[in-house]
Amino acid sequence: MAASPRAFILRHTRLRPVPGLEEIRLHLADEALPLWHAVQVETNDPDAPVPYWAFAWGGGLAIGRYLRDHPEAVAGRRVFDLGSGSGLCAIASMHAGASEATGADIDPFAAAAIGLNARANGHRVGVVRRDVLDDEPPDADIVLAGDCWYDLTLAERVLPWLVRVRDRGIDVLIGDPGRRYLPTAELVELASYEVRTTTELEDLELKRGAVYALRP
Ligand SMILES: C[S@@+](CC[C@H](N)C(=O)[O-])C[C@H]1O[C@@H](n2cnc3c(N)ncnc32)[C@H](O)[C@@H]1O
Repeated sequence: MAASPRAFILRHTRLRPVPGLEEIRLHLADEALPLWHAVQVETNDPDAPVPYWAFAWGGGLAIGRYLRDHPEAVAGRRVFDLGSGSGLCAIASMHAGASEATGADIDPFAAAAIGLNARANGHRVGVVRRDVLDDEPPDADIVLAGDCWYDLTLAERVLPWLVRVRDRGIDVLIGDPGRRYLPTAELVELASYEVRTTTELEDLELKRGAVYALRP
C-alpha cells in the first residue's frame, strides 16, 4: 500500500452531512466504481473489496434515524457496531448518548474511516479490525448490524452470531433496506424510514429502510 489508509481516505472523500442525518458528517465519496478502482491500484489487489466505508448505506441510515427517535436504546450503554463501514451506526449511537461505541469491520480502510469519521463528529469510537463472527459475543449492552445482508456467505454467518449475542442477554438492532438475504422470518420490525443512500451503486432515490429486533 503506497499511502496510509487515512491519507487515502482524505484524498478520495469529502466530509459532508449524511442525508436525513445532517447532524452527522462523514468522509463520503461521490462515486463507488472509480474509488473501488483506486483502492485496487493502491493495494495492488484486484480482489480488494468494494469501498463500503465511503458511503452511508440504507441499513445504517435506518439505524441512525431510529436512534435519533429512540435514544434510550443506547443512552448510557456500550454499543458494538458490526460491519461498521464508515462508522455511521457507532457515531449515531454516541450522538444518542451511548457511554462507548466500538465499530467492527474486516476492511482496513473501514478501520481508518471509523476513526476519522468519529473524530470529525467529536466522538471517540473504538475499532475492532477483524472478523468477529466466530468469536464469543462482545462485551457490550447492544449490538447494531447495519446493512449486513447483501451477501449470502456473510448473511449465513451473521444470523447465528446475532442469535448467540441475543441469547447472551445483549440487545440486537438490525437495519436493512430489504436486501435479498435478510432473514425476515426471524425478525420483528420496529420502525421504518425513507432513506437516501449516498452511493450510485443503488438508486439515489428514497427507499425504505427498516429497523428490526430478532424474533424472541
Ligand atoms: C454495506 S456495508 C454497511 C456499513 C454500515 N453499517 C452502513 O450501514 O453504512 C457492510 C460492511 O460490513 C463489513 N463486513 C463484511 N464482512 C464482515 C465481517 N465478517 N465482519 C465485520 N464486518 C464485515 C464490510 O467490510 C462493510 O464495511
